[in-house]
Amino acid sequence: MTVRTTTRAFFDPQTWTVSYVVWDHATRHAAVIDPVLDYDFKSGHTGTKSADQVRAYLQAEQLQVDWILETHAHADHLSGARWLQERVGGRIAIGAHIREVQATFKELYNLERGFLPDGSQFDHLFGDGETFMIGTVEATALWVPGHTPADMAYRLDGAVFVGDTLFMPDVGSARADFPGGDARTLYRSMRRLLALPPETTMYVCHDYPPASRGPAWQTTVASQRAHNIHARDGIGEDEFVAMRQARDATLDVPALILPSMQVNVRAGQLPPPDDNGVAYLRIPLNALPRH
Ligand SMILES: [Fe+2]
Repeated sequence: MTVRTTTRAFFDPQTWTVSYVVWDHATRHAAVIDPVLDYDFKSGHTGTKSADQVRAYLQAEQLQVDWILETHAHADHLSGARWLQERVGGRIAIGAHIREVQATFKELYNLERGFLPDGSQFDHLFGDGETFMIGTVEATALWVPGHTPADMAYRLDGAVFVGDTLFMPDVGSARADFPGGDARTLYRSMRRLLALPPETTMYVCHDYPPASRGPAWQTTVASQRAHNIHARDGIGEDEFVAMRQARDATLDVPALILPSMQVNVRAGQLPPPDDNGVAYLRIPLNALPRH
């Protein structure tokens, strides 16, 4: 199969996140996937070093952005989608089940009445199996819940961007203990992706590399099926669920979950400012479900 697209990865060492730009050779139309807005917890300042790298690449390659795709509402970093859209355009899209995530977190943060958990903060909500175009290249959105209820993977041109559904083979899988997450559902979503053609390239959204190697983000379905420490062929559903639940019970809450979720359910828009012109993040005390 002729390769019709170029994929460029951007690794953010602060949050171990990988953002992507993928673009169509025929038209130079592009999609940006999971851009990051930097956030300094100590000072309360946002920053654009990560998103600026993406913007610089888009400009250097003279790409026209059709889409800014979120694989899910991230709990470990703020989304750079809105910041980037204001500068390079594109439609911000996520899975339709984001509405459930918005409802959960609207209640947790007691967000303003005007915040509607209806997905309207995004330009488009994908249903499972929906197809869309990046220039002349057709892409398919796949609903792969489990890590959160709203996770999507995006498949195009012999590759699939899996978000946090699978990590690199030696890292395994993401936690499934966030509100609405479920290990059994995650297993089924992983198997769905592993049923894609074995030569399919897989791009992951995070890497937490062991000391023996540097960060990596590109693998294949075949490699995952042979080597993924949590999901390789032969590991059954019950075995995975038992492992995942035991492991999740030991994990700390992500450092940036409370800042991240209240920005990410707004498609990367910061909260509306108070009457003094300053925007505030809310920290609910003793309210975030632990497990
Ligand atoms: Fe995530």
